[in-house]
Amino acid sequence: MAEPYLKFAAALVSIIISGVGMADQVPKSDADTNRKEAEQASTLTPDMENGRKVFKTCALCHSPEGWGTKDGTTPEIAGQHSTVIIKQLMDIQRGNRDNPTMVPFTMPMVLNNQDFVDIAAYVEQLKMAPTNLMGSGKNLKLGKEIYAKECAKCHGKNGEGDAKEFYPKIHGQNYNYLLRQMLWIKHGKRRNANRKMIKQVNRFSDEDLMAVIDYSSRLRPSTSEVAKEGWTNKDFSNSFKYSPKYEKK
Ligand code: HEC
Ligand code: HEC
Repeated sequence: MAEPYLKFAAALVSIIISGVGMADQVPKSDADTNRKEAEQASTLTPDMENGRKVFKTCALCHSPEGWGTKDGTTPEIAGQHSTVIIKQLMDIQRGNRDNPTMVPFTMPMVLNNQDFVDIAAYVEQLKMAPTNLMGSGKNLKLGKEIYAKECAKCHGKNGEGDAKEFYPKIHGQNYNYLLRQMLWIKHGKRRNANRKMIKQVNRFSDEDLMAVIDYSSRLRPSTSEVAKEGWTNKDFSNSFKYSPKYEKK
């Protein structure tokens, strides 16, 4: 029972020793870094029960439903393609995507590739939040035009992404989070960003950027992917007692 906490404590200590400098030591990298390994990992068979156990820790920030926070501090991850989750976790673990808050929870001594696959399978099947925060709605015509011309080819007409290509789902996501990621991609703060996307985003004015993100935040997942209003994740009610849903037969 105490073991996972010991692991986290050990991870924290090692981070303190290494001076949190991980990110600075990382060589030049991009969206293809870790892609091969992510592809290989995606072929592993997920252990849903382990995924659910590990997700307990993730739920502290991402909420038991995986919906994150509306203000966008923590992203919604429920329903995201498992391939995308696996790759983002690898990128975060290895400093290819700066995320200091999450690093201790993804350290190699805490989680390995199989754990990533297990969590990703668990998170992918969670239903998405019934509502999300959107932008001002002022410039939607412009946003729609830009989206159709520049974004749909990768993120899909409806923001559904592409699991095989590691293109994230962006529909149903909260506006502030989307905007922050776009700005970070534009300013090179998100090193794992797709090179083509960086080039493209650099042509945009702030007005264009906000318009296209506002439009993206209004794209809706299909009803079958969305939870009913007021739904709570029963896997974590009852003091985190596991529901029998995924018990091994
Ligand atoms: C201490 C809080 C915290 C914990 C614990 C945490 N996360 Fe996160 N996570 C964040 C924040 C904050 C971000 C967004 C960082 C940013 O803006 O780039 C994030 C981003 C992510 C992303 C990227 C989402 C995207 O759309 O690209 C994934 C995937 C993710 N977390 C999964 C997990 C999993 C799985 C766990 C458990 C092993 C976990 N997180 C634990 C805070 C946390
Ligand atoms: C060439 C393909 C491509 C195009 C075109 C593209 N993207 Fe992306 N986008 C990606 C990939 C790949 C990622 C994930 C990269 C990574 O790992 O950081 C991403 C990530 C994102 C993210 C962060 C998602 C998250 O969950 O953290 C947002 C937001 C986003 N794109 C919006 C857009 C918008 C808006 C446009 C159009 C202006 C666009 N993208 C055009 C490939 C593309």
